[in-house]
Amino acid sequence: MSYTFSRALAGMTGTATRDIFKLLSRPEIISFAGGLPASDCLPVAQVGEITAEIFADKKEALRILQYGTTEGYPGFRELLGPLLKEVGIAGMGLDQLLVVSGGGQGIDLMCKAFLDDGDAVLVEDPTFLGFLETVRAYNGKSIGVRADSDGIDLNDLETKIKQHKPRMLYAIPDFSNPTGKTWPADRRKAVAELAAKYGFMVIEDDPYCRLRFSGTPVPSIKSFDTDGRVVYISSFSKTVSPGLRCAFAAGSSEVIRKLAIGKQGADLHSANLSQAIVKRYLEKQYFYPNIEKSLPIYRLRKTAMIDAIRKYMPSEFKYTNPDGGLFIWGEFDAPVNTVEIFKEAIEKNAAYINGTAFFADCSGSNTLRLNYSNESPERIEAGIKALGEVFKGHIARGG
Ligand SMILES: Cc1ncc(COP(=O)(O)O)c(C=O)c1O
Repeated sequence: MSYTFSRALAGMTGTATRDIFKLLSRPEIISFAGGLPASDCLPVAQVGEITAEIFADKKEALRILQYGTTEGYPGFRELLGPLLKEVGIAGMGLDQLLVVSGGGQGIDLMCKAFLDDGDAVLVEDPTFLGFLETVRAYNGKSIGVRADSDGIDLNDLETKIKQHKPRMLYAIPDFSNPTGKTWPADRRKAVAELAAKYGFMVIEDDPYCRLRFSGTPVPSIKSFDTDGRVVYISSFSKTVSPGLRCAFAAGSSEVIRKLAIGKQGADLHSANLSQAIVKRYLEKQYFYPNIEKSLPIYRLRKTAMIDAIRKYMPSEFKYTNPDGGLFIWGEFDAPVNTVEIFKEAIEKNAAYINGTAFFADCSGSNTLRLNYSNESPERIEAGIKALGEVFKGHIARGG
């Protein structure tokens, strides 16, 4: 059968990550390719207990099994204020908050609300590949902005703003996926000011700020927004469970209203059960203790990966050493093509994601992303050792 798909989706064949996941079902493969929270950190017992409590209460059970409101499950948005305060965002009213089905939906709704065909969107290069795909699906055009070790380069940002007149800037200022980089406060403030000066929207995507195992928290871009230009999106995927698909967007009431209209056409509302579970999870004070329990696990795994990189990877491999999040980013100062070498790595039972998927112009064939959150320290060492042998072999043979 030959289908005529839309122009937006016809050229898309599935993200690098999703395709790689299929390859990774073999248990012998040590995978640094995903972005999953550690299975050991998922709150199985607490969510089981909460779900039983919810369904023991007939009134609440009926409310959950019925249609809900687009904005969110009753009482849930009221609990988000303290979480926002922690990142410097104070005084948000309920009309400035929208519950969404994962941060991914928040991104999608922002593109739906603000992008027309051919509109430019600026991104820090490299950036979250899911965002690049969403922009493509709305026929927008992602343009990469240079970055240094502290994140987005403000000079290049202003040049590209003048050149492309973007509708939006997409930012992951805390422990970025894919680089693990965190922007200092002055860059965040400058970005909020540039958005006000040139009149574009900022999506601040922040799933990782609570996964900090060293250093000091930095206020959000949204905390510097005096103009209603920044929409802050936060997700419970990495702090409670990705399977619950529970996240929220915070912005001006006018923008939130528009996102809610977009959401009505997408899924009407996020699942009541997931929202009720996360609501009780917060009320029962399970949220912070569970994160506190998870952080040493992530710290240990990151340290194991950094130690293994130092020991086994070639000296031409330059890498980030983040204070939190789930990812290390690497770049070769040598003619190494991570796209071509991937097959050989899989044959040696180790997987990574090549970096090209994270660049707006699909460059970066000498780069890769390594995820450390969902493998044990022993398997991390074995996997990096295998990758080290593969890459050293290539460099020795001249690329
Ligand atoms: C930067 C970033 N944004 C959004 C998402 C999507 O997360 P969610 O599960 O909340 O849709 C991810 C997931 O890995 C991510 O890394």
